Amino acid sequence: MKDSDLQALTTDINSISLSNSTVLYKSTAPGLPLLVIDSPLCNAVLSPYGAQLLEFKPKDKAPLLWLSPKAVFEQGVPIRGGIPLCAPWFGPHPTDSQKPNHGFVRNNDWTVKSIEEFANGEVKLDFLFDTQDTEAETYDYCFQLKLSMTLGDSVKLALTVVNLGGDEMPFSWAFHTYFAINHLDATRVTGLTREEYLDQTDALTPCIQAKDITFTNEVDRVYQGIGEEQSILCDREGVTIADVKGSCCPSAIVWNPYTELAAKMKDIGPNGHLQFICVERGAVFNDSWRIKSMSSMTAELQLQS
Ligand code: BG6
Repeated sequence: MKDSDLQALTTDINSISLSNSTVLYKSTAPGLPLLVIDSPLCNAVLSPYGAQLLEFKPKDKAPLLWLSPKAVFEQGVPIRGGIPLCAPWFGPHPTDSQKPNHGFVRNNDWTVKSIEEFANGEVKLDFLFDTQDTEAETYDYCFQLKLSMTLGDSVKLALTVVNLGGDEMPFSWAFHTYFAINHLDATRVTGLTREEYLDQTDALTPCIQAKDITFTNEVDRVYQGIGEEQSILCDREGVTIADVKGSCCPSAIVWNPYTELAAKMKDIGPNGHLQFICVERGAVFNDSWRIKSMSSMTAELQLQS
């Protein structure tokens, strides 16, 4: 999307301005255009590339999201942090290992369709992704994604997937949220106890989540058919970092790479794993959507700190 189109959308909105990753994060040129929000209710930074919320801080509260200080702002590379959207597949492509991990919509430009500012201080942004406008990818299915973000003292996301093709379309996806934390050893995820999970660190072995999830080594777990609400707590600070509430998001993925893997990942690096956990919500594995021709499905997610 051209800077001039973004500029036109932002001119009448008091609390939103246009910036660039090179200016904001001192990253390498040429960088990516970014939208910066300073509203009565929150501060936020968004990237039309990937339709990704990068930073979100309700006024008078701690930042909700982690954005890696080593994040790369470059076409073709996913931005590490915030809320990337994984789709139309989750993890490696089922049959072609050359295709990008977690699909291609986090690695492509989206169109910002509208930005609105409401009297209650919320700002709503509508993003559109259409496979027909994307030259970089060849994909067997033709679809449109509409992602609407309402930013106030919480983050509200609504994703609608429209199957524009003649056949039923399989669709796996996840909001891959990176939550900012201060004390990994005192961080706990509730709301998934007694659920079965597939352990991605152990060849997808099925296990039962006996207690709240804690982080003492690499955690990479896929929970299917779960309840709507989870919470992330910090026992040392005695605070709730976030309440996560999803509708039509039947799966959760909980991920922290821990010491060894974080050190190997260029855009996380040594000790980077101490700064975040991912609690993702979406529809993956057996929960994946199948969307009929010319039909749509919608999911919603709310993150409240
Ligand atoms: C998680 C997966 O969702 O994303 C992990 O469960 C993966 O297996 C992680 O390592 C990060 O993936 P990526 O492609 O962003 O490095």
